[in-house]
Amino acid sequence: MTSLDLEHFKQIIRTRYQLDFKPDFFRFLQDALEARLRVTATATPAEYLHLLENDSEEIAHLVNLLTNKETYFLRESPHYLLLTRELFPNLLRDRPYFGKKVRIVSAGCSSGEEPYSLIIALVETFGEGVTDQIEVTGLDINDEVLHHASMAVFGRYSFRGVAPEIRQRYFSEFAGNRFVLNQMIRENVRFQRHNLAQWPYPEQARHADLIFYRNVSIYYQPDTRSAIFENLSRLLNPGGYLLMGAVEVPLHDTGVLKMNQYENVFYFSKEPQSLKTAPLLHQPPLPVRTQAPAPVPAPEPPTPARAPAIDDGETLLDEARTLAQEEQMEAALDKVENVVRAHPDCCVAIGLKAYILLQLNRNRETEETCRMALQQNDFLPLPHLLLGLAFQKGTNHGEAVKQLRKVIYLDPACWLAHFHLAESYRATGDVKSACSEFNITLKLLEDAGLDNHGLPVFHSSYTADQMVTICRNQIRQLAGT
Ligand SMILES: C[S@@+](CC[C@H](N)C(=O)[O-])C[C@H]1O[C@@H](n2cnc3c(N)ncnc32)[C@H](O)[C@@H]1O
Repeated sequence: MTSLDLEHFKQIIRTRYQLDFKPDFFRFLQDALEARLRVTATATPAEYLHLLENDSEEIAHLVNLLTNKETYFLRESPHYLLLTRELFPNLLRDRPYFGKKVRIVSAGCSSGEEPYSLIIALVETFGEGVTDQIEVTGLDINDEVLHHASMAVFGRYSFRGVAPEIRQRYFSEFAGNRFVLNQMIRENVRFQRHNLAQWPYPEQARHADLIFYRNVSIYYQPDTRSAIFENLSRLLNPGGYLLMGAVEVPLHDTGVLKMNQYENVFYFSKEPQSLKTAPLLHQPPLPVRTQAPAPVPAPEPPTPARAPAIDDGETLLDEARTLAQEEQMEAALDKVENVVRAHPDCCVAIGLKAYILLQLNRNRETEETCRMALQQNDFLPLPHLLLGLAFQKGTNHGEAVKQLRKVIYLDPACWLAHFHLAESYRATGDVKSACSEFNITLKLLEDAGLDNHGLPVFHSSYTADQMVTICRNQIRQLAGT
């Protein structure tokens, strides 16, 4: 095949797929073309070119031969620690709605090891119930690897670097060297063929909260890399995260997404929307006109339709929050109840309602409201925190400890949870745990002040320094007992 022929084929791939491979990947093109000429029984490059131009699937077969499909389970394990310790808890905490699942996309998922690993890591950390909170989609340009992925049968090589007990827990062995993934993990991933360079993306991947886009960009020239990265940034919800392989991150630090660091891992995030612009509430359906409008007598401009209730809801919620801040709790409750009635799955409103009830010492209703919230999503720290505080007020310290420990599991930096947990330990005579929790509280307060209290509204009669002093005094007293 002449270099002219090759250039022609490259051009077709660029035009039809918007993909510009790096020269070291295009070096496979010659082999790929020869293979396709054989399979399609085409005699000459010119004949194959004709086929390529007339058979929409043929180019897909050709591109399949150009990409590297290398992957394995739990590859780059620090990414999975970042996911389970930091990103996933953040995503759950920051969601304004109950019932809305965290949407995860594995972009360039190859034979499925990556999307399945995401679920395995989450189930390992949070238990099987976490699968109700997530939606995972694997996208790849190559339909052959996607077929393999949906079969979910893997050879030993896919498990290099995986602890044997993980393989035993989630796979069944058959025919010696093959392992089938458990149904519980399999059924939670959907696969779809898609070229990441092309827009629009499949509906199921839109509004992603978290994207794993690892070991794909390395094939491409800078133009293709930035086109794909921009597509993925557009796909990502505000407040969402994108993870790439370690060598890929610096190539994408162009300001499109914000680069962050967690221990030794760098990752990207999209700025969250401000409270004012974030859609805190569901947009109700637009009113449907059921009758023909009455004739309009004068040629006045039509009255604009009433603004959708989303504005009313947000305004009411703001007002309720301000009233709660001003400690006008009955009036605040009145407002927030209206919001909850209209938007029963808005967790921001339900959280505020439970908080106000607690301030009004209506402990039983606080508990009911929190339970209602937790039935929809057990991973939100706020209802656990309010339940913990309600139990503590009712001197049920055993239950308070259980709830406050859950808060800390979901939001380890919440100093208020550590502080109250210390109080409940002290009340039950567990001096060692109480000291340890007071110590953690004072460290958190010294490092970050009072901000991460975890409540929708926070009144403190003390400054951070005074709280630190209180903790120190408690520790001193406990040490003397
Ligand atoms: C090396 S594998 C990486 C798999 C996995 N992300 C990982 O890190 O283990 C790269 C995968 O990206 C896919 N890929 C490459 N270019 C793509 C594109 N433009 N659109 C969708 N998938 C693509 C390839 O088909 C291949 O399966």
